[in-house]
Amino acid sequence: MNKDITAQFLEHNDNNINDCVNDIINNDLVIFPTETVYGLGGNALNENAIKKIYKIKKRSIKNPLIVHVSDWKMGSIYCDVNHVEQKLILKLVNKFWPGPLTLLVKKSSFISDLVTAGSNYVGLRCPDNKIALELIQKSMFPIAAPSANISGKVTSSYHKHLLEYFRNDKIKILYDKEPCKFGIESTIIKINNNEITLMRPGMITLDEIKETLKNDDVIYEYKSLVNQSNSPGTDISHYKLNKNTLLFNFIDINLLNSDKKTMQNIISTTKKYIDNSVCVDFGKKNIKYRDLFAGYVDLSSKGDIKEACYNLYNVLHQLNTIEVKNVLIFDFYYGKEGLFNTLFDRVFRCSSGKRICIPIQLLENI
Ligand code: TXA
Ligand code: MG
Repeated sequence: MNKDITAQFLEHNDNNINDCVNDIINNDLVIFPTETVYGLGGNALNENAIKKIYKIKKRSIKNPLIVHVSDWKMGSIYCDVNHVEQKLILKLVNKFWPGPLTLLVKKSSFISDLVTAGSNYVGLRCPDNKIALELIQKSMFPIAAPSANISGKVTSSYHKHLLEYFRNDKIKILYDKEPCKFGIESTIIKINNNEITLMRPGMITLDEIKETLKNDDVIYEYKSLVNQSNSPGTDISHYKLNKNTLLFNFIDINLLNSDKKTMQNIISTTKKYIDNSVCVDFGKKNIKYRDLFAGYVDLSSKGDIKEACYNLYNVLHQLNTIEVKNVLIFDFYYGKEGLFNTLFDRVFRCSSGKRICIPIQLLENI
């Protein structure tokens, strides 16, 4: 790669894996792909390595790190679960591991408070990616890794995204030529006795979890975006772009019962605003209005929600590079289940929960 880049991009081969394994063993950091997004990893059992992660990511030490393991045999060493929890966990790992499901479970004393930000719960995840698994297996350490981006910024789901954050860091990046398979972070559930709380929606849906545990007596809870604001790492403002970003939908301004002049004002102000905006659409819902916007991109023109999740971070990275004032994300996802809920979680945070309503009257002559 380019000479003015300090980070070392390494393709997957035995030599490069061995170099990276050595870095993990020596408590240095390595960036690696997973099936969800890239991770910024270090030896989970070494406090110096953990401190380096918080530092390079510019992450608050109040925001804990997920610990990556190669299977449940390894995972079970780092948690301290009771009989009820164990039974549920075994069913879940048999079904979903390796894969995009992180289990938040009571930690064992091997895991330091620095990894969990003082909590007695640790997030355990077994990634479904051969490079990630090889790194864990060969180093024989669990690997603590947050997503490989600067705190609060857009997640990296493709090796080129990493340049934006780590080009000047002395760090090895094991990369995959292809983008990460799913492109969006893992689902996180907390297991406390027979209570399961969905902490972060991801690729695996709550319905799939319920189906797997349908013969067990489980109480489910979902932390909605609104009441999560006090939990670590669930800041309403996340995945931040370098542009003003809002969710958008339509409103019939006749409902406002305003006089004609006020209505005209609302329409012309909105028009000026969207003149300077890119529309981020789903399923071509707004394609006929595309000329109203300065730019138009569709997360999935065929309306496939899995594809939209896969494309989201790549589209957000692209939007960071173009010259336009605002990004307007069509809010098609709110109030829906499954992957729609996952996508809503991400776009809601990306827009810090801000919204704009476009008068339908603006569209009448189109
Ligand atoms: O797909 C993923 O999960 C990726 C890949 C690299 O594995 N990782 C990832 O890590 O998304 P991160 O740090 O960007 O997001 C993990 C979230 C954070 O919001 C963090 O606060 C939460 O999980 N978390 C981790 N450990 C926790 C703990 N012990 N208690 C509560 N929340 C925890
Ligand atoms: Mg992250």
